[in-house]
Amino acid sequence: HISPNTSPKIDTVQNHAGSTNAPSTLAYDVIIIGAGASGLFCALTAGKRGRRVLVIDHANKAGKKILMSGGGRCNFTNYDIEPKHYLSSNPHFCKSALSRYLNWDFIGMVSQYQIPYHEREHGQLFCDTSANDILQMLLTECRANQVTIQLKTTIQQIQALPDNTGFVLTVNQQANQQANQPANQKSSEQTLTCHSLVVATGGLSIPTMGATGFGYQVAQQFGHTIVPTSAGLVPFTFTDKIGDAIKSLSGVSFEVIAFNERISFRLPVLFTHRGLSGPAMLQLSNYWQVGEPIFINLFPSLDMAAFLAEQKKQHPKQLIRTVLNDHIGAATLPKKVMSTLQNLLWQDMAETELANIKDEKLAQLGEQLNAWRLTPSGTEGYRTAEVTRGGVATDKVSSKTMQSQLQPNLYFIGEVLDVTGWLGGYNFQWAWASGFVAGEVV
Ligand code: FDA
Repeated sequence: HISPNTSPKIDTVQNHAGSTNAPSTLAYDVIIIGAGASGLFCALTAGKRGRRVLVIDHANKAGKKILMSGGGRCNFTNYDIEPKHYLSSNPHFCKSALSRYLNWDFIGMVSQYQIPYHEREHGQLFCDTSANDILQMLLTECRANQVTIQLKTTIQQIQALPDNTGFVLTVNQQANQQANQPANQKSSEQTLTCHSLVVATGGLSIPTMGATGFGYQVAQQFGHTIVPTSAGLVPFTFTDKIGDAIKSLSGVSFEVIAFNERISFRLPVLFTHRGLSGPAMLQLSNYWQVGEPIFINLFPSLDMAAFLAEQKKQHPKQLIRTVLNDHIGAATLPKKVMSTLQNLLWQDMAETELANIKDEKLAQLGEQLNAWRLTPSGTEGYRTAEVTRGGVATDKVSSKTMQSQLQPNLYFIGEVLDVTGWLGGYNFQWAWASGFVAGEVV
């Protein structure tokens, strides 16, 4: 590594002196591709060490996802960060970085900046005022440490220098648009060199916010493999009768246990006009594969088979909906849900008194109410997903530094890697932690 003392000056070298259209060469210690959560955090960390850092982004604004996160309030971390809150082909990969940059470290920084924040359920920490507070904190730290952020810049080519001493990037920076500008002045080509190159381009979610698969291409260029990607933390969609029934309950939300054979979450479900959403569904989506069923325990606090058997003894003349409504329904499930469930699950016995329903049938219904089986037709996809599952395989990346084991001085941080967090501030904590450990060594 080039130590801060011996690092090259940032020189602008005009390749063809006097020619304004000629590409220029700029030399940095570190170039980070992606001015998102992990890229900015890596930049300010490296900047503090005296490294000359350039952050490039093709978007017209840094940190767009930070701004839209947590409904505009940015759920920036969680009081309870543990490796079990992350999915990856290698579940151990996240451990080292998470243990070296803690949630408390980030909370300390937020407190130092006097950003007001509050805790919500399950240890989630949100800004009181705006996600912009977090973005401004990161940008202020970047400025204070002489980090250069260059927006509206696309990368044409990345080449490793001979002897692995660094990289040369050919980029195009779009000029600020002015009326009647000749086409050849709308962008300018630059050649950039750096010792360390950090890929922080995030995942594929929300393409309208600038998400691209560019990081995966760079990884493949240097021999890395990509764990197949899919939308994570995303609502489920349904077709047919179930789809219509769910649509009819649009806006209804209540607590359930959503589960499959891998995991369960006791959280609210939200019915929408497109399908099932809410924290329970978003969390479960991280553990779901196309074609698989999901299960919803509609009465998480009751063994419904036992409950219905007991009601049959106590109130033999009553109907199923009456005992559900009278004895538990009003307290747990909105009325609208009860009639929809009746249409779907016990239409054939809707008008039959409990005494006349076979024990076996009641028990079956009870089991269904505790484990309502639904098979989503899909998810809403990257258009609304909060994260991307899969990504750059971690097998050839150092878990301590995020450095590629295939190409010296190349790093991958944040969501571009095959590390996916739960809902609740876990993805940002991964962005800070992975950005930090790379920022300490680049
Ligand atoms: P991030 O996406 O932040 O940044 C990547 C950057 O790379 C972008 O600026 C992009 O423009 C740039 N880029 C991409 N391709 C490029 C290219 N070809 N050339 C140049 N630049 C390129 N997490 C959490 O913990 N708490 C929360 O509250 C939320 N809320 C939330 C809401 C919504 C709507 C979404 C979509 C996501 C969240 N998340 C979240 C997830 C969180 O936003 C996400 O995991 C992190 O932003 C990932 O940080 P990265 O730095 O890896 O990517």
